[in-house]
Amino acid sequence: MSAGPVLIFDSGIGGLTVLREARVLMPEYRFVYIADDAGFPYGGWGEDDLRERIVRLFRDLIDEHRPALCVIACNTASTLVLDDLRDAFPATPFVGTVPAVKPAAEHTRSGLVTVLATPGTVRRTYTRDLIQSFASQCHVRLVGSENLAGLAEAYIRGDRVEPDDIAAEIMPCFVEQEDRRTDIVVLACTHYPFLANRFRALAPWPVDWLDPAEAIARRARSLLAVSEPGDDSEDVVVFTSQAPDFPVRRLMAGFGLRFAAAGD
Ligand code: DGL
Repeated sequence: MSAGPVLIFDSGIGGLTVLREARVLMPEYRFVYIADDAGFPYGGWGEDDLRERIVRLFRDLIDEHRPALCVIACNTASTLVLDDLRDAFPATPFVGTVPAVKPAAEHTRSGLVTVLATPGTVRRTYTRDLIQSFASQCHVRLVGSENLAGLAEAYIRGDRVEPDDIAAEIMPCFVEQEDRRTDIVVLACTHYPFLANRFRALAPWPVDWLDPAEAIARRARSLLAVSEPGDDSEDVVVFTSQAPDFPVRRLMAGFGLRFAAAGD
């Protein structure tokens, strides 16, 4: 019997940045991509409601897809529900995506690091604890962006996204203290790497934009056996809205994902 698929979960298109890397490292696995677009954006949700929603969704997802492993390719969800998911589904391995504070603290030369994330991720105790544990020697600025995930979705759909709108969201990331400047910005939302070129063009000075997608994929790979390629059925995407618009369907098709209704 072949292993089950790898399930990649996000509130929208952000998890595609992780899927891209995961496919390179786990070419023998089939992927099921879940976009909880009916719940997008996660950034503004209350913690109890979001936790309850995601655990409920996973009851059906695990029943239906029997995944070998689940990647929560969303910081806003991972910083909240990883423990709940592991408790509720102990037989399924989960890999989360949390702000890359540790590598940023290890690599900064100026000691000024910024974490750019959704307002939800910025509020989380999990995020504050990460900073406390791994970056107490640095000055870490937390920037919670209301609009960037939505702007990334719009950009990827092919809509016009004004430079000023992006600039307004990223400018608070740049800190100058005497002769020191921010040198690393952690992209702590999986949607943001889609805008990385726009960020680079608008930045007042060059910084490293830290995208953890490859590290997440490596972690997932390390937990899975190299399996016999057995299941050659297509990779699929399921949208919780059941009704993604045409540009999003086209984007998913471009990523080699066939649109599937829940229960397909
Ligand atoms: N992609 C998600 C993350 O990594 C969040 C986007 C949203 O739903 O606000 O945090």
